[in-house]
Amino acid sequence: MSYASLKGFRDILPEESARWREMERKIHDLMRRYGYGEVRLPMLEATELFARGVGEGTDVVGKEMYSFLDKSDPPESITLRPELTASAVRAYVQHSIAQQSAFTAWYYLGPAFRYEQPQAGRYRQFHTFGIELIGSEHPEADAEVVAAGVDLLAVLGITNFRLRLNSLGMPDERVGYRAALLDYLRGRASELSEESVRRMEGNPLRVLDSKKEQDVRATADAPRLTEFLGAESLEHFERTRALLDAMGIDYVVDPRLVRGLDYYTRTAFEFQGLDLGAQDALGGGGRYDKLIEEVGGKPAPAVGFGFGLERLLLASEAAGASSTAAPEIDAYLIALDDEARRWAVKTTHTLRGAGLRVECDLLRRSMKAQMRDANRKGARFAVIVGSNELAARAAQVKNLGDGSQRDLPFDALVETLCEATPHLPTPDQTSP
Ligand code: HAM
Repeated sequence: MSYASLKGFRDILPEESARWREMERKIHDLMRRYGYGEVRLPMLEATELFARGVGEGTDVVGKEMYSFLDKSDPPESITLRPELTASAVRAYVQHSIAQQSAFTAWYYLGPAFRYEQPQAGRYRQFHTFGIELIGSEHPEADAEVVAAGVDLLAVLGITNFRLRLNSLGMPDERVGYRAALLDYLRGRASELSEESVRRMEGNPLRVLDSKKEQDVRATADAPRLTEFLGAESLEHFERTRALLDAMGIDYVVDPRLVRGLDYYTRTAFEFQGLDLGAQDALGGGGRYDKLIEEVGGKPAPAVGFGFGLERLLLASEAAGASSTAAPEIDAYLIALDDEARRWAVKTTHTLRGAGLRVECDLLRRSMKAQMRDANRKGARFAVIVGSNELAARAAQVKNLGDGSQRDLPFDALVETLCEATPHLPTPDQTSP
């Protein structure tokens, strides 16, 4: 009997995880520059949180959630988080963060789960990096969030992307628009795709998001949301755009951009990766001024984004960004007999304790095979010990770079190897 991972769930093996760590390190560095605090949120939440927060009418809540009953009596419906904004807001309310400061900026990294049809760039477990700025209703916050997205792509070496921007207005402004759009769509139902016809009564705005050519054609003259926005929403949009212009950030205003989650108000944006296939949304976000009260907090304005780490990796690889080379090691301890093996295990432990990257053979291989392994792993030094070396209390140390060899007393080993190692790992390099 053998098992495979579930459809849409991936293993990340060491060669790939090195690239993940590198990307995560860049993200943590970027967030330090911005001064945002990291939150680590639970993977499971009450189903109700997403149903209310993200919206019953969305695909995410309606079709894609991993929800199940737990073992409590009576059982509670819980859900593997399909996104992290609702969780962040729940934590913000639960811990009364508003009472501690008027403005809060958080970021997070972690998996999310959606029961979608897997394809290139789309998985059932994926990973997101997101930021949430809570407390400011002003366009400065919207602009900072967009700028953080632009900076993220820059540090990852992703240059081939398009930033799409729109204003979705406030819920009361959308009511009028929804009615006008639905009216228009009903008149064109015969020209729309089946999926759009199915969608339009429940969520007419999503029809605008369809990439199907017949939908794009049929909605070319559909009423525009901007025509329904009030003065305040229009001004907010203008000011956000002016700030982006001032920062030299390129974007296209796209009235079709509606996003797939219900909580957005006013600003909405998406970074589209131009090197990706059909699943080309690298990240997206926007303002969500009503969500906090929706999940039981005191009203507070907020804006944020979420990026998919798998897609960021795909895009940075397409951009030819350097992938980390195979990890090299400082020293490889080669033991020639049983007693030398005991010495090698103990000394490996000591050298690792001193901060060196060291390996010894755990397969009791021949000297030749150990030497081959040391070379394959890019060891800088081979430290060879047999019965003669044990008796003399000095190892043969071979520099695998230039082939030179010398005898080194055991008690000088740690110091000499440390001195010969130009970049001993510092805590900053080893932890993200
Ligand atoms: P979202 O657009 O639903 O927004 O997801 C954010 C990003 O996650 C997408 O742009 C995409 O890169 C990635 N993603 C989504 N679904 C999948 C999947 N099945 N497989 C791989 N990657 C995927 C949100 O989740 C919002 N919480 C963003 C936000 C934060 N808005 C305000 N604050």
